[in-house]
Amino acid sequence: MASSWILFAIYLLTSLTTPVNGTHQQYKRSELFKLGENASLSCINKTWNQIIYILWRVSMNGVNCSITKEAHGPVYSSCSNRVTLYNKTSGESQLHIAHFQLSDEGTYHCEVAYNHGNYLLMIAVNAIVSPVLSAQLYSNGSHRFAVCSAHGGKPAANVSWEVWWSSPTITVQVRSEADTSSNITAWLELPDNVTRGNISCIATHTSWLDRRSVTLNLNEKQPSNVIVLLCTVGVTLGSGLLLLIATKFLYNMRKMRICSKSNLSQNTDSKSAQSQEVEEVEPYASYVQRVNSIYNSSADLYGS
Ligand SMILES: *[C@@H]1O[C@H](CO)[C@@H](O)[C@H](O)[C@H]1NC(C)=O
Ligand SMILES: *[C@@H]1O[C@H](CO)[C@@H](O)[C@H](O)[C@H]1NC(C)=O
Ligand SMILES: *[C@@H]1O[C@H](CO)[C@@H](O)[C@H](O)[C@H]1NC(C)=O
Ligand SMILES: *[C@@H]1O[C@H](CO)[C@@H](O)[C@H](O)[C@H]1NC(C)=O
Ligand SMILES: *[C@@H]1O[C@H](CO)[C@@H](O)[C@H](O)[C@H]1NC(C)=O
Ligand SMILES: *[C@@H]1O[C@H](CO)[C@@H](O)[C@H](O)[C@H]1NC(C)=O
Ligand SMILES: *[C@@H]1O[C@H](CO)[C@@H](O)[C@H](O)[C@H]1NC(C)=O
Ligand SMILES: *[C@@H]1O[C@H](CO)[C@@H](O)[C@H](O)[C@H]1NC(C)=O
Ligand SMILES: *[C@@H]1O[C@H](CO)[C@@H](O)[C@H](O)[C@H]1NC(C)=O
Repeated sequence: MASSWILFAIYLLTSLTTPVNGTHQQYKRSELFKLGENASLSCINKTWNQIIYILWRVSMNGVNCSITKEAHGPVYSSCSNRVTLYNKTSGESQLHIAHFQLSDEGTYHCEVAYNHGNYLLMIAVNAIVSPVLSAQLYSNGSHRFAVCSAHGGKPAANVSWEVWWSSPTITVQVRSEADTSSNITAWLELPDNVTRGNISCIATHTSWLDRRSVTLNLNEKQPSNVIVLLCTVGVTLGSGLLLLIATKFLYNMRKMRICSKSNLSQNTDSKSAQSQEVEEVEPYASYVQRVNSIYNSSADLYGS
């Protein structure tokens, strides 16, 4: 009894692991193509003398098409006319995609019947898209970070930081976007005693021959404490005054029972004028200033 169960189990296992169709063998491959270039997909290393027919079935993000040809017959295609069968000079057939586009991404199944059997191949076809590199400073309130991200890339880029101090703390975050591109972010924690100098974000990607880098100059973005203090005081006073004026204005409007639409537009106008003033003081680093002002003021608090 027990041995027949073992035999049954072995039968189950072997029937699951061997191909259902004896002569069919499914091969898998993946290929990457740059947008705009001509893409060629090879299926089998055989010439038309040996081949009976070739069938390509393509499924692209919800759209299916096929292209097929018998050795001495015409080509039948329901694919876009950018997709064609093409004979290499050596006689082998290839699928040719002119000016590869994002919409050409998908699974390309090739089925070939030749004089000694069948051949099945599945090719996952994806586009190569260069990512966009950017770097900036960020503070979470108690720690400063240099943040570098390579977003929109396919496949994902490699991102890291190059710094002069030893054993830097770097955290790499990988995020997949809805459009199947990636957003890779490298967070470098800046030690408290690192306040000046250049650090470089280094990225590598399939689409680039060389590594690329973005340099952050820490001294440029470090406004002096006096400026930070002045800005903080200025912004605080300014926004307080603004609030006072707005409240008073609102109160008057209510009193006069007039629609508040004009009130709103005037309010935002004066706000943007305010932020422009801040920008003029430190044109390239107003974002960083605000971050640093938080950092510095909390450091003062904890330090005292
Ligand atoms: C293709 O077949 C030819 C002979 O038919 C052989 O010389 C060649 O190495 C094969 N190429 C590949 C990539 O298998
Ligand atoms: C496309 O083909 C796949 C199998 O390759 C099938 O699952 C899917 O339903 C087809 N989609 C359409 C829209 O015909
Ligand atoms: C490729 O070769 C086959 C067989 O010789 C022929 O029928 C077909 O027309 C050729 N295709 C092209 C695009 O030249
Ligand atoms: C790409 O393919 C198109 C159409 O098949 C052809 O006209 C063009 O010359 C090809 N471009 C390159 C760079 O091979
Ligand atoms: C800021 O980052 C540091 C280091 O990752 C972490 O220990 C700390 O909890 C964070 N602070 C806040 C307020 O998120
Ligand atoms: C990439 O991810 C980082 C961190 O998760 C985020 O701050 C940034 O806004 C993202 N970039 C894009 C373009 O989504
Ligand atoms: C920062 O301080 C640590 C010890 O607190 C020291 O080991 C390190 O060398 C300092 N780094 C720099 C760049 O001065
Ligand atoms: C930092 O880079 C700037 C140019 O971006 C350069 O002028 C400066 O000398 C560099 N500073 C250091 C310490 O390497
Ligand atoms: C990214 O880094 C990993 C491991 O260091 C490496 O295997 C991979 O090839 C790199 N990718 C690129 C695009 O450089």
